[in-house]
Amino acid sequence: MFREVITTAEMRITADDLNGFATEALRQVGLSEADATLAADVLVTTDTWGVFTHGTKNLRGYVRRLRVGGLLAASQPHVIREGPAWAMVDGGSALAMRTSVFAMRAAMAKARSAGIGFAGVRNSCHFGAAGYYAKLAADEGMIGLAMANDIPSVTVPGAAGPVLGSNPLAYAIPHLPGRPILLDMATSTVAGGKVFAAAVCGQAIPSGWLTDENGQPTTDPNKLTRGGALTPMAGHKGTGLALLIETLAGVLTGAATTWQVVSWSLHDPSLPTGHGAMFIAIDIKAMLPGGEFQARLSRVAEEIRAAPKAQGVERILLPGDLEWERREQALAEGINLPGDAAESLLGLAADLGINPPILR
Ligand SMILES: NC(=O)c1ccc[n+]([C@@H]2O[C@H](COP(=O)([O-])OP(=O)(O)OC[C@H]3O[C@@H](n4cnc5c(N)ncnc54)[C@H](O)[C@@H]3O)[C@@H](O)[C@H]2O)c1
Repeated sequence: MFREVITTAEMRITADDLNGFATEALRQVGLSEADATLAADVLVTTDTWGVFTHGTKNLRGYVRRLRVGGLLAASQPHVIREGPAWAMVDGGSALAMRTSVFAMRAAMAKARSAGIGFAGVRNSCHFGAAGYYAKLAADEGMIGLAMANDIPSVTVPGAAGPVLGSNPLAYAIPHLPGRPILLDMATSTVAGGKVFAAAVCGQAIPSGWLTDENGQPTTDPNKLTRGGALTPMAGHKGTGLALLIETLAGVLTGAATTWQVVSWSLHDPSLPTGHGAMFIAIDIKAMLPGGEFQARLSRVAEEIRAAPKAQGVERILLPGDLEWERREQALAEGINLPGDAAESLLGLAADLGINPPILR
């Protein structure tokens, strides 16, 4: 049975055990075996990358919504309109991991016939880490892009308080076997999850991440839920990018936009959140056949890695390098879950009355 363990220490779990626990939790609230397995893979893969703010830690919140109707376990995403190179998907308030994989696969199918495919999504929820979906395309030799909108938590230059979501953007470009170049980022300076994690641990945050209710810089992470806002990545440039994502993932898709989006974690869990998302797949071999793309990309990648290094720097990274290294280590030695993520899983086991995950 569940033990009331409050820990801020890291706890280790194998990826298989975490997968088994996450799958079981989702089955308990009515997901089919296939949907539960798929969603568990999205969240556990995210944890193996070391992106703990968007992995299984959030499962408790998704399950809460599944139990009271904000998410619908039996709902299946479906295409509502399409053209030769695009499709619009209605998520029907299904778990966003399910809808997002469906939509990226729809974009990839279009790319196979048209060279490029776009899939827009409405009536979804928080999809976690954008990178998982972009990687699906790279696994099949395509360039993948994934983006989503979210409830405002980020300010814009000149404003006090939140105006736009931290609208994430990911791309994956096939490169080394099983290790695409993978950029996966919020368009805020840092993802809100990092500020929440600091608040839970009672830690101050670096200056530059957050502004208070008056639009002034603060290092107090608690200000995020008290009228403060994340700062946009690179100032006005991050705002511009977030607006593009809001337009493609929210306005164009017919999804909820800005304040119409319901928070998946803070608001009434019986309400649908209405998030939007978008996915693009580009079929490389249709555009540059004969392996020429990989040869050209490798030259660029090697050039970057071989650039003269700043004093004290040992190596230059490409996007995704850190995540792939962490994943390799996590699969070999287990995942070191931060205390707040471990606590969330133990709480979820207690909510559902199921065996807790095996944490060491
Ligand atoms: N679903 C949502 O609404 C939502 C909103 C915001 C963020 N997110 C997710 O939050 C996660 C974390 O976002 P973040 O912005 O805090 O990420 P981050 O700043 O930790 O990393 C961003 C990217 O930078 C790359 N990177 C890091 N150091 C590098 C270096 N030295 N050289 C080259 N590349 C380097 C990483 O590989 C990664 O791809 C992402 O998975 C994102 O999708 C989701």
